[in-house]
Amino acid sequence: MYRSHTCGELNESHLGQTVQLAGWAHKVRDKGFVVWIDLRDRYGITQLVFDQDRSEAGLLEQARSTGREFVVQATGTVVERASKNPKLPTGSIEILVTSLKVLNPSLTPPFTVEDETDGGEELRMKYRYLDIRRNPVKSKLLFRARVALEVRNYLSGKGFVEIETPYLIKSTPEGARDFVVPSRLNEGQFYALPQSPQTFKQLLMVGGMDKYFQLVKCFRDEDLRADRQPEFTQIDCEMAFVEQEDILNTFEGLTSHLLKTINGVETGPFPRMTYDEAVSRYGSDKPDIRFGMEFGDLTSLAQHRDFGVFNQAGLVVGIAVPGAAEYTRKEVDALVDWVKRPQVGASGMVYVRCLGDGTYKSSVDKFYTSEDLAQWAEATQARPGDLICILSGETESTRTRLGMLRMEMGQRLGLRKADQFAPLWVIDFPLLEFDPESGRYHAMHHPFTAPKPGQLQMLESDPAAVRANAYDLVLNGNEIGGGSIRIHDKQTQAVMFRHLGFTEEQARNQFGFLMDAFQFGAPPHGGIAFGLDRLVAILGGQESIRDFIAFPKNNNGRDVMIDAPAEIDPAQLEELHLALRL
Ligand code: AMO
Repeated sequence: MYRSHTCGELNESHLGQTVQLAGWAHKVRDKGFVVWIDLRDRYGITQLVFDQDRSEAGLLEQARSTGREFVVQATGTVVERASKNPKLPTGSIEILVTSLKVLNPSLTPPFTVEDETDGGEELRMKYRYLDIRRNPVKSKLLFRARVALEVRNYLSGKGFVEIETPYLIKSTPEGARDFVVPSRLNEGQFYALPQSPQTFKQLLMVGGMDKYFQLVKCFRDEDLRADRQPEFTQIDCEMAFVEQEDILNTFEGLTSHLLKTINGVETGPFPRMTYDEAVSRYGSDKPDIRFGMEFGDLTSLAQHRDFGVFNQAGLVVGIAVPGAAEYTRKEVDALVDWVKRPQVGASGMVYVRCLGDGTYKSSVDKFYTSEDLAQWAEATQARPGDLICILSGETESTRTRLGMLRMEMGQRLGLRKADQFAPLWVIDFPLLEFDPESGRYHAMHHPFTAPKPGQLQMLESDPAAVRANAYDLVLNGNEIGGGSIRIHDKQTQAVMFRHLGFTEEQARNQFGFLMDAFQFGAPPHGGIAFGLDRLVAILGGQESIRDFIAFPKNNNGRDVMIDAPAEIDPAQLEELHLALRL
């Protein structure tokens, strides 16, 4: 037995007991006649004490020579501390050590294993196992495990079965690039790693497993962001004999359960908003509704004066930023520069200061009267003291840009509070999305999503207007889940593939197995997948998912600890029939 207790559990109730602990030497403090070692493990820190009067000869010297992060085992008696530390659960006791054994020494760590470390990002990633010893990372991994367990318990309790699906598969179109794996046994052929288990979960429904879930790794070769990793985990779910309403209710149940058990937050019924409403009110299909600053459409109010910029625009739209009327000229200019950054892409910004005395001062005073400006204030629900920020141009991109400004201002004004949770269903997504690059329509969710009943015919006449039974779950401005009701008959699926530009042969080649399955009694079905990493991060009050993943990739998709990706041996290339291809 290495230890009788953990480093987080001893307190005054254990006084006088002989105990054995094992852990890492967190800190060694040497006062000459007395030496303390803070011994740390996953559970906490316990103070070991060695002193001239009470410890056997040699022990003090041994304690003194223990380096940071040495793995040690200590046996001793639980005694009361002279100066107690009320902040530590073990803060009123210490262990008077009778025997100390170094189980393994350690090199000096490249950064301090402290909550506030001196290690930079790159260094911490290279030595991630040391980073994981630090509370801020450790606690996030433990938090993730709690959430995952709660998900499993909840869904299992509702009759869902967890079923694994394969990782070596054929391409599933979720909109990103595939990671591919060459096949040794089948020359010139490749597996793709799943972007999601989409087709398999649908086949499980055909197989009669009417409530499926899986915590599953998915792989997408796309550019990284704070909320994106090339491999990430989904809570993937599918149900048969359901309508959209059943799915929304079931997974609203799961989300409320998590908010309650993990965060202690009670939520009422989640609000629902159509996609069209979300983009016109917030400029985003994943609006953060913790704060207002809703869009005011100023197009008809602002046009037909002498201001050419607005007259030529498809949309003139503004938000009222609370309290920002007082911004100095320099601060407003900085805001204008912010919207002109390439990442946002606006060509400029018109603003109106709503002054405390009910008057207005704008950057377009030349063209508009105060009655005009008062109408703008009404449309944007601006109050005295607010700054109305107005963008104009092509409708969709203008909305997106103002949506970005709204989020930025929400952030700057501290309106995006991490301990406040505002879930929202966004429903009625368009079925298709036009991709100017390829000049074609793409499935906005994926090609297996069903159009709303009765809208299949509109695919010919007005493809952009077709709406789908597709929905996203948004939490605090982040898309944490998405799903849809699926097509479950071969004819509709064939029509869908045709509209997405697949020839019959291509559709057969890629998805023949699914079309075949649809001919053997496929039940009506639908589902959803949550991004577990994102969900956990947001429940944990953060937006970056990286620290909630034990071994994440950096911004270039590299694991700097194991140094992957890496070249492979020529013999291995040969075996995989890749030697000549490269
Ligand atoms: P979708 O592509 O919307 O749907 O993905 C579901 C959820 O997965 C999360 N997510 C990611 N998280 C981290 N890094 C990434 N690169 C990443 N990409 C996606 C998001 C997203 O909401 N098969 C469908 C689901 C279905 O129709 O049932 C699918 O994968 O939180």
